Formats: sequence, C-alpha cells, structure tokens
Amino acid sequence: MVGICVISARGGSQGVPGKNIKRVLGKPLIVWSIEQAIATPEISRVVVSTDSPEIAKIAKSAGAEVPFLRPQHLSNSEAGKFQVWQHALEACEKEYNEKYNFFVDLDCTNPLRDVDDISAAISQFKEAQTRNIDAVFSVCEARKNPYFNVLEKSDDGTLKICKKGQDGQWIVRRQDAPEVLEHVASIYVLSPEFLKSNAKNLLEGKTEGYYIAPEKTFDLDSEVDLELIEFFLRKKLQKNRQSLLDVVGKRVVLVGATGVLGSYYSQMLVAEGCIPVLVDRPGSTVITLGAELGVQAFEMDVTNEQEVITGFAQIREQFGDIDAVINNAAVTSEGLASGGGDPFSPFEKSSLDVWQAAIDVNLTGTFLVAREGGRLMKENGGGSLINVSSIYGVVGPDHSIYDDMPFKSFAGYSASKSGVIGLTRWLASWWGKDNLRVNCVSPGGVFNDHAVEFEQRYAAKTAMGRMANPDDIAGMVLYLISDASKYCTGQNFIVDGGFTCQ
Ligand SMILES: NC(=O)c1ccc[n+]([C@@H]2O[C@H](COP(=O)([O-])OP(=O)(O)OC[C@H]3O[C@@H](n4cnc5c(N)ncnc54)[C@H](O)[C@@H]3O)[C@@H](O)[C@H]2O)c1
Repeated sequence: MVGICVISARGGSQGVPGKNIKRVLGKPLIVWSIEQAIATPEISRVVVSTDSPEIAKIAKSAGAEVPFLRPQHLSNSEAGKFQVWQHALEACEKEYNEKYNFFVDLDCTNPLRDVDDISAAISQFKEAQTRNIDAVFSVCEARKNPYFNVLEKSDDGTLKICKKGQDGQWIVRRQDAPEVLEHVASIYVLSPEFLKSNAKNLLEGKTEGYYIAPEKTFDLDSEVDLELIEFFLRKKLQKNRQSLLDVVGKRVVLVGATGVLGSYYSQMLVAEGCIPVLVDRPGSTVITLGAELGVQAFEMDVTNEQEVITGFAQIREQFGDIDAVINNAAVTSEGLASGGGDPFSPFEKSSLDVWQAAIDVNLTGTFLVAREGGRLMKENGGGSLINVSSIYGVVGPDHSIYDDMPFKSFAGYSASKSGVIGLTRWLASWWGKDNLRVNCVSPGGVFNDHAVEFEQRYAAKTAMGRMANPDDIAGMVLYLISDASKYCTGQNFIVDGGFTCQ
C-alpha cells in the first residue's frame, strides 16, 4: 500500500504568530512532524502544503517535499482543512504521477505524537477498510462530559448540565454518563476516494477514532499550550535519551569471556538483556560458564587463523546477525604469572617467547577477531567493534610499583596494546562508512586480590586514589555497545580513575 503524508502549515496564524515555525525545544514546530512522518515506515512521501516561502524553505531542509505553494483562497483563516487536503491530494497525484492507497495528515501544531501512533493509526485504517471506513483520526476520552459536568445557560441565565441521559433523567454519577470523545488535532488517515467525493468535511464520511494517550493531545493554540507541549516533549526526550543506553536484545560476541573482566562482562551482558555469545580459548571454562548463564559458548584460540574463521562462521550459522564484538582476550602479566615459570626477567634478558605470546594473542588475535567479527557486522549493516587496550598501551609503567611483586609489567604487553590502539584507528577509518564503529577501551589496573602493598602503590598513582573494580570498566563497554555511542568511532576510551591524567 502506498501512502502519502501531507503536513499543512499556513504562514499566518491568529493565536500564536508564526506558530508553525516557532522554535519548540530549539526546533521549528513543523520539523517535529516532518521528522515523525519521515520515520514512519508506511509513508512513502512527505509533502508540506504551505503558502509561505519561509515555511517551504524550513520544510525542505528538514527533508520534506514542497511541490507547490498553496493558493491564497486555501490559505486564509476561513479555509477548511478538508479542502486543503483535497487540493494537496490532487496536486501530488499530478506532480508525481502516483495513486495513493491512503492519505495521512499530521497536524503540525501537535508534535507530541510518536511514530508508533502514526503507524498504529494507519494499520487501524487499513483494517477498517473491510467496514468501508473513510477516515480514522486521533481522539481521546473527553476530559469533561456534557452528560455530567459540561454546563450551559438556561434562558433565565441559570446553569444546567448540557444533556440528559437516554431516559430523560439527569445523570448524577460520572460512570453512568455515555462515553464522549474529544477530537485531537494530531493524526488523520483518509481514503483518497473519500477526498475525491462530494464530501465537504471529515465528519460527512464514515469515521473511526484512533485513541491517543492524554499526554499527547495538546496542540499549539496559545502561549500556555507552548509551555505544556515543551513540558511533555522534554519528558519524552528524557525517556528516549535513557533508551539510547538500552542494550536489551543486542547480540554481542564476547571474546576472552572467562578472565577477570570477561567473566564480569559475561554476567553483565545477561543482566542487561543482551544476547551474548561467549568465546574463550580451548581448555578455558567458557563452555561451563555458558551453561551456567544459559547462553551460547564457543572455544576458539584467537591466535589460530583457521579457528577464528571457522568459529565466526559457526557463530553466524547458529546465532545469526551480531551487533557488537568485544575483542577482550589477552595475555596479561598476571595471566603469565599464574602460568608458572619466570616470564619477568629484566628487559635485557627478556624472552622472545613472552614477547611473541603477547604479540600473537594481544595483537594478531585482536586483528583476526576484528577481521572476522567485523566482516560479519559489515555484512549485517554495521555494529560496534570494541577492542581492548590498556593504560600501558598509552603510557609507560612506573616499574617501581612492581618491585618484589610476583608479576611485572612487560614490554610485549605495552607494545601489543599500543598496536591495538593503532589498529582501532585504522579500522575505524576503514569501516566508518559501513556503519561499523571501532573503538578501544583502555582500562587501568583492576583489583584482583593484589597484595596490599601493590594496591597501595598503584592507588597512589591514580587521581581517584584506588584501583578499578570490574564494574568501573564495564560501563564503558556497555556505552560502546549501546546506541548512545552511535557517533563515536576511532577513539581510545581510557577508564583509569585518573592514572594517566597526572
Ligand atoms: N585486569 C586489568 O587490570 C586490565 C588492565 C588493563 C587492560 N586490561 C585488558 O582487559 C582485558 C581483560 O583483562 P583481564 O584482566 O580479564 O585478563 P585475563 O587474563 O583475566 O583474561 C584474559 C582472557 O583472554 C583469554 N585468552 C587468552 N589467550 C587466548 C587465546 N589464545 N584465545 C582465546 N582467548 C584467550 C583468557 O582465557 C582469558 O579469559 C585484556 O585485554 C587486558 O589486557 C586488563
């Protein structure tokens, strides 16, 4: 079904001068409706009918089409809305050589409706075709009821309730009063045939009401309305702003899922309503962790090209599209320390194996996961690739804080983590136009039952005077998964309690 939306906006207005382009929360009033119409999937063309070149210019820059300027006889305060619709329909059919299955009008003085309301009114109209309904338009339950609390004056000036009940008696309880509706100037969906008939106004047709929520019923007629509209719009925007951070239903591949941070992220993804796939090296506890959390889990050695290729192919097959990949696997100094041996000899005697392990896992593994995971997301229309570096990819360590500790900072770690930041920037510019964002999170030291001495030495080097907890880092990961970061790419987000700021 092809549908056109026409937004009518006269240049002149008696109540609030210039109201159709008055700025409401910083945006010309008409632009709110244009943006809603453009975002409504059922509407294929958005047209503004106006007599004002100024409104036409604003409408065009907001994405609407203005194929004609409305003639003067349809632009004064006497002109009826119905005639304006009839004119717009005829002009658009001619201009675009198109026929429409439905005609939508959005009142530009009411920006409070949602795109979902427009879609729902259109579906109601489509469904009502079986009952030969000519139009569906927005209504709400009237705040006052003429059977109960709307008054009129008698001939002698005394007051009485407007209407008696069907039995001719006055109604004394509100719940006994018949339902009465208010016509809300917001959404109209009409049949083009009805507009081409001899009808002169909306209510000459067979109509049904689309019930719209009470807080969306205000339209701009006076300065008081403006305050009300801004109040409810602000509330709505605040709600939407929260939902930008909403990650419910996001499909996220977490690589390096069983370590200190990975195991925390795994639980967080489940708690936040994401659909995670957990990945870690063969021999790790990833399958058990997946079973415990009730989510899918895969074993994959990120240094093995074939395993990464096959692993992501399997993920695609069993899991479908993905929204984000957290590239979190690494060889860390604590990981090396717990593996036994002494990987932390002085640099002059340092082992090539340790260097190579860091490059293989932290840099080559990050590259392979980026390539395979990124390709999947690119093919699915985009996503968020989150690489993980470290403060030691950004600044050199103060080696003295590791004196007498069982683990140390080692060169391969810093070199590989700096490489991850470079890779992030390169990939961000490579994939930017594919809606695939690539960012990096660089955590500071996370407390993991360290010796008190080490904790104190480390904490003294941070502005906030403490080591991180996993949840301190996790917020940044969530932000990067969410749409709140939708314009961020190529950045290294350092989350270190001020370790690198001083
Ligand atoms: N914890 C910190 O203090 C800290 C500080 C800065 C940066 N980071 C970074 O955050 C990330 C997570 O750190 P963490 O402390 O949880 O580390 P961790 O050592 O506890 O976990 C690393 C994870 O990577 C996995 N892994 C290692 N080699 C792998 C391979 N070949 N294939 C697949 N998986 C492999 C491990 O099994 C483990 O699950 C790492 O990238 C790390 O460099 C951590």
